[in-house]
Amino acid sequence: MTPQAGPPRPTLVGVGVGPGDPELVTVKAVRVLHEADVVLVPVMAADETGRAEATVRAHLDEVAQRRLRRVVFALNEREDAARRESAWDAAADAVADAFDAVDAVDVSAAGAATVAFATLGDPNVYATFTYLAETVRTRVPGVRVETVPGVTAMQDLAARSGTVLAEGRESLALLPLTAGLATFENALAHVDSVVAYKGGRHLPDVRRVLAGAGRLGDAVYGSSLGLPDEDVRPLADVPDGPAPYLSTVLVPARRSHRGGKL
Ligand SMILES: C[S@@+](CC[C@H](N)C(=O)[O-])C[C@H]1O[C@@H](n2cnc3c(N)ncnc32)[C@H](O)[C@@H]1O
Repeated sequence: MTPQAGPPRPTLVGVGVGPGDPELVTVKAVRVLHEADVVLVPVMAADETGRAEATVRAHLDEVAQRRLRRVVFALNEREDAARRESAWDAAADAVADAFDAVDAVDVSAAGAATVAFATLGDPNVYATFTYLAETVRTRVPGVRVETVPGVTAMQDLAARSGTVLAEGRESLALLPLTAGLATFENALAHVDSVVAYKGGRHLPDVRRVLAGAGRLGDAVYGSSLGLPDEDVRPLADVPDGPAPYLSTVLVPARRSHRGGKL
C-alpha cells in the first residue's frame, strides 16, 4: 500500500529583501514571496507602510498583495526590553495563526503551509527574524525554518560609494556600534576593512576614533540606502552630530597599489 501523504510540514521562510531599493530583491525572493500562502511584513505601526512592505509590494500584483499582512514589530534596539519581547511574541502568534488559518487571508481552512516573513537586508545578519524564528519553533511543532539571502546594507553602501570591501588577503569585519567603541577600535587595529552598523547616535565618537587613527579621510557614510532620503558621502563631509539609526559606516583597508594584498 502506498503511504498516504500527510499534511505539508509548516514552513516559515525569512526572505531577505535588501536594504530598501526594490531592484535589490533577488529572483528567488520574488518566487518565494509569490508562492507563500501568507506574506508577513514587519511595521512600526499597524497603519504605516514599512520599508519591507514597500519593497515587497513593488514585486507583487494586486491579487498577490492580498496575502500580505502587517505585523507590528520592534524594528530596532532602542525599544525597551519588555516592548521588544512582547512584539516578538505577537509576531510569533501571527505566524502560528497563519498556519492554523485562525486569521489568515485567502488561505484554505487547513491553514497556510508556507508563511514568508520579509526581512530587511539579509535574514541572517542582525535581523529580528532570528528571534521570531526562535519563538515560532516553540509554538508550532515540527515547523521548518528556512531563509532566502538578501543584499545587506554593507554591500549596498560598498556599491553606491564605489568602495571595495575586501581584496586578496584582506580581512573584513562587520560589527554593531552598540557593542561599544572599544570593539570598533579593536577591529580597526586588527582587521583590514571595517563596517559599522547601528552607529547613528555614536557617529561623533566614530569620527573622533577614525581621525585619531588617520583613517577618517577614507571612511564612507551611507544612510537610508535605496530610500528617497538616501545620503551617501565621505564620512568627513557629514555634518558633525548624531546620524539616523539607518546609517552605516565603511572604513576600507589601506591599500598601496594594484594587487598589493595578493
Ligand atoms: C538591525 S540591523 C539590520 C541589518 C540587515 N539585516 C542587513 O542585512 O543589512 C540595522 C542596521 O543595518 C544598517 N542598515 C540597514 N538598512 C540600511 C539602509 N537602508 N541604509 C543604511 N544602513 C542600513 C544600519 O547600520 C542599521 O543600524
